[in-house]
Amino acid sequence: MKILFLNGPNLNLLGQREPNVYGRATLGDIETKVRERAATLGIEIEFRQTNLEGELVSWIQQARGIFEVIVLNAAAYTHTSVALRDAISAVAIPTIEVHLSNVHAREEFRHKSLIAPVCSGQITGFGPNSYILALEAAVNINATPQQPK
Ligand code: DQA
Repeated sequence: MKILFLNGPNLNLLGQREPNVYGRATLGDIETKVRERAATLGIEIEFRQTNLEGELVSWIQQARGIFEVIVLNAAAYTHTSVALRDAISAVAIPTIEVHLSNVHAREEFRHKSLIAPVCSGQITGFGPNSYILALEAAVNINATPQQPK
C-alpha cells in the first residue's frame, strides 16, 4: 500500500509559526514520526509540502494509479479552494482531511471546509498525532464504510 501525504501553505513554517496553536514540532519532525509508524505497518509513504494551490491540484491528479490513499492537510486552502475539492472528486482516491489544530474551535472562517464533503473523513485537533491517526485511518480505509457521494 502507498499513501501520499500532502501539506499545503505555511506548513513549511511549523516549529516557528504560532507555536501556541501549532506546537513546536517541525514538518520534518512530523514526517519522521509518520515514516517510523509506516515502517512498522509495512506501508510506503511519500510526504510533500507546497505553498502553491495548483501544485497540490497537480499532485492529486498525478496520484492516480500510484497511491491508494491521500492524507491532505490543505491548510488555508481547506477553507477556500474549489479547485482542490474538484481535484479530489475527479481522481476518486480516498482522501483523509487532516489538521493539527481543531479548526472548529478556532475562528469562524475555519469552521467551513470546502474539501470535507469529498473526503472520507476529517481528523482535526490532535497536533502531530493527527497525522498518525490519519495513517491508521488510511491503512484501514477499505474496511471503513464510506458515505455515498
Ligand atoms: C491547519 C488549519 C488551517 O485553518 C490553517 O489555515 C493552517 C493549518 C492545521 O493544520 O491546523 O494553515 O490546516
